[in-house]
Amino acid sequence: MKKHRDSMTRREFVKGATLSLAIVGTGAHQARAAGSGTIRVGVIGCGGRGSGAARNCVESSKGVEIVALADAFGDRLKGLKNEFSVPDEHCFVGLDAYKQVLALDDVNMVILATPPGFRPPQFAAAVDAGKHIFTEKPVAVCPAGIKVFIAAAKKAGEKGLAVVAGTQRRHQASYVETMKRIHDGAIGEILSAQCYWNMGALWVDRAKENWEKWESGKYSDTEWQVRNWLFIKSLSGDHICEQHIHNIDVINWAFDALPESVHGVGGRQDRTNRRYGNIFDHFGIEFAYPNDIKTISMCRQIAGTTNNVSERVVGTKGWSSCDGHIEGEHSWHYEGPEPDPYVQEHTDLIESIRSGNLLNEGVRVAESTLCAIMGRESAYSRAQFKRSYFQSRCTLDLLPANDLKLSDAATLDPVPVPGVYQLPGMPSTRRRRRRG
Ligand SMILES: NC(=O)c1ccc[n+]([C@@H]2O[C@H](COP(=O)([O-])OP(=O)(O)OC[C@H]3O[C@@H](n4cnc5c(N)ncnc54)[C@H](O)[C@@H]3O)[C@@H](O)[C@H]2O)c1
Repeated sequence: MKKHRDSMTRREFVKGATLSLAIVGTGAHQARAAGSGTIRVGVIGCGGRGSGAARNCVESSKGVEIVALADAFGDRLKGLKNEFSVPDEHCFVGLDAYKQVLALDDVNMVILATPPGFRPPQFAAAVDAGKHIFTEKPVAVCPAGIKVFIAAAKKAGEKGLAVVAGTQRRHQASYVETMKRIHDGAIGEILSAQCYWNMGALWVDRAKENWEKWESGKYSDTEWQVRNWLFIKSLSGDHICEQHIHNIDVINWAFDALPESVHGVGGRQDRTNRRYGNIFDHFGIEFAYPNDIKTISMCRQIAGTTNNVSERVVGTKGWSSCDGHIEGEHSWHYEGPEPDPYVQEHTDLIESIRSGNLLNEGVRVAESTLCAIMGRESAYSRAQFKRSYFQSRCTLDLLPANDLKLSDAATLDPVPVPGVYQLPGMPSTRRRRRRG
């Protein structure tokens, strides 16, 4: 396979980065949290996944306590508050509530599970506050956010902080064992790959209720957007970024490389009601990996359609589902234990904090997030572009305003129209049509 990144393969690059982080990890900050001391966790974003991650984290290891909570809304925080008996003085409400959790000295780790649009500033603040971090995916929704996140992830390494991301397949035994074999050549040279997150509708009732409350004036524009974040591009990054990142990340893992160019299509065919914000409901993306190896990524959220959440990698000697099956010259099926990956990711994080052999998945999850963002922007604009060009030229900045308030009036960007939608900082795709 052709080498990239100045002749360094991605595996070599990551290995080098891990080594340097491990060395940095012997500093003062790391010493503070290492050993068998209690891990005192603050949960930022106490919705479905924040609550699940809190439980997974406590289940994963001895000596873990949930000690502080932050959420934009009091009604979302109540469940965890009661479940873990978190005292009132450690429960904070509002868009800035995360700052109060981060200011607590007795919190040494945080779970970041707010909508992805808020992630870059919250992650950077958590690093500045010297906390170990479990961050849900995706970690940004725009190139500007990716830059903020990557800079903070590198700083976390320098400060001796651990970072684990909620791309749980990376901690799932069947995937881990399959990837080892793929990297060792079990399917030969990779020739192509496919990945899918195709499903039916979701958040139908929630979208209806949120819309009714906005229409009746109970919710401001901003409150509606934050509560309805899944359907708001600047908060979720669209479903290719919010959900399909899992599968794109698996394909990056199999190649041990990032795609070099992208060409996408997509649209909004079923979920056209305004209550569904400004995102698409289907995408089909062609990613080209080093040596121009083409892959297909497909995602859809449309009621009444077939479910398919999977990956497939095809090589010169066979193919693999990536999750425990290899067929071909070296057929193999995983039969080992399969601990819950949602728990395992916390087991690995806490073990890494306690041993001082710090995990830092920050750059890796940011790179996979970037791939999903590139796919989305290619589909919105119907532009085909290289990753290097996108990274150096695209100025799209959807980061939340520093002084954002829930009471703010806010207009929503229109649903992108392919061919009309213009990528900030990149040349127009509109060309005068040749007549013959
Ligand atoms: N790894 C996985 O399999 C998986 C599964 C589901 C969700 N997720 C991810 O977890 C994150 C949360 O998703 P969810 O399903 O829990 O959504 P959710 O809406 O149930 O929870 C999000 C919570 O964040 C709160 N919030 C919003 N803005 C905030 C802010 N600025 N500060 C503090 N709190 C804020 C909301 O009030 C809500 O309680 C997303 O990034 C999502 O992609 C990951």
